[in-house]
Amino acid sequence: MYKIAVIPGDGTGPEVIREALKVLKAASEKFGMKCETTEFDFGGERYMRTGETLPDSAIEELRGFDAILLGAIGHPDVAPGILEKGILLKARFELDQYINLRPVRLYPGVDSPLKDKGPDEIDYCVVRENTGDLYTGVGGVTMKGTPHEIAIQTAVYNRYQVDRCLRYAFEYCRKHGKKARGRGEHNTLALVGKTNVLTYVYDLWERAFHEMGDREFPGIRREYYHVDATCMWMVKNPEWFDVIVTGNMFGDIITDLGAITQGGMGLAAGGNINPEGVSMFEPIGGSAPKYTGKGVINPLAAICAASMMLEILGEQEASVAIEEAVKYITAKKLKSMNAGRMGYSTSEVGDMVAQYVADL
Ligand code: IPM
Ligand code: MN
Repeated sequence: MYKIAVIPGDGTGPEVIREALKVLKAASEKFGMKCETTEFDFGGERYMRTGETLPDSAIEELRGFDAILLGAIGHPDVAPGILEKGILLKARFELDQYINLRPVRLYPGVDSPLKDKGPDEIDYCVVRENTGDLYTGVGGVTMKGTPHEIAIQTAVYNRYQVDRCLRYAFEYCRKHGKKARGRGEHNTLALVGKTNVLTYVYDLWERAFHEMGDREFPGIRREYYHVDATCMWMVKNPEWFDVIVTGNMFGDIITDLGAITQGGMGLAAGGNINPEGVSMFEPIGGSAPKYTGKGVINPLAAICAASMMLEILGEQEASVAIEEAVKYITAKKLKSMNAGRMGYSTSEVGDMVAQYVADL
């Protein structure tokens, strides 16, 4: 039996999580798993009511679960940064979810803004380091409000963080790279950095990358790209990529670009993974306040997050079944992936996916 903590969160979070749970239930019945869910109301509403974001006691409680499913964090009436840092980043850091796994996969029937690129070309995965870099909060401000104000925010990495992320990426590439999936001749891991300017941090990444590759993963092909060039190639030649590994900040930026090439935020899912601990899965689209409560938001990203959760929990078959169901729905049912233009309501989309899983 799996104990799943559910944090629906803000905006459209609860609506899409409801559909993800519907699909999880169908998959559980189909594949004989037991998932017990416990809901937590962390988010903007609770913060405004109580002043609490994600208390330390909740972190301790969350450690007792097998996984966490998160809807969205971000509320129009709460200043930017409070909920993001207080809930999302706090969970990632405190639970040491040091990998942010973000597949960039174009599903059949989905329109990509990239001309002449289809599911064969847009099919890679970004392994974003999730605990260091500009996200650590190291920095400060002085002479605030004066013309001489100084603001410093520091990119922080140690060898340990870099090595554990690289090892995950190499292992992921060995298991899920293009060769492993029968879609190419090589498993290729590309390091994305900026060694021409960030000559300390990405020098560390690059040395660690080649040392580990040489020593432990000689069968995996290695590539290096600067982050600016990566943005260009993600648009022009996405088929070049297999598995990408990068730091937290670049990973944040390039995965939004990746998401739009795979048909938008309605489809992009991510996993905040602690391979030795509790991982947290989320649609990466945010709370979309303007669509809240209308029943028009696309729940497929949340459903894909649930599928990813099952994969990490070791429920391969159930995970693949949900992915197959999503592919069927994008190919055969939805008119558009965008909120309000799907041709179905949020819950109808969830119903169709659940039904497909049940009928498999
Ligand atoms: C993401 C988001 C977060 C991040 C924000 C909300 C703190 O953009 O998950 O990509 O920067 O990691
Ligand atoms: Mn982001």
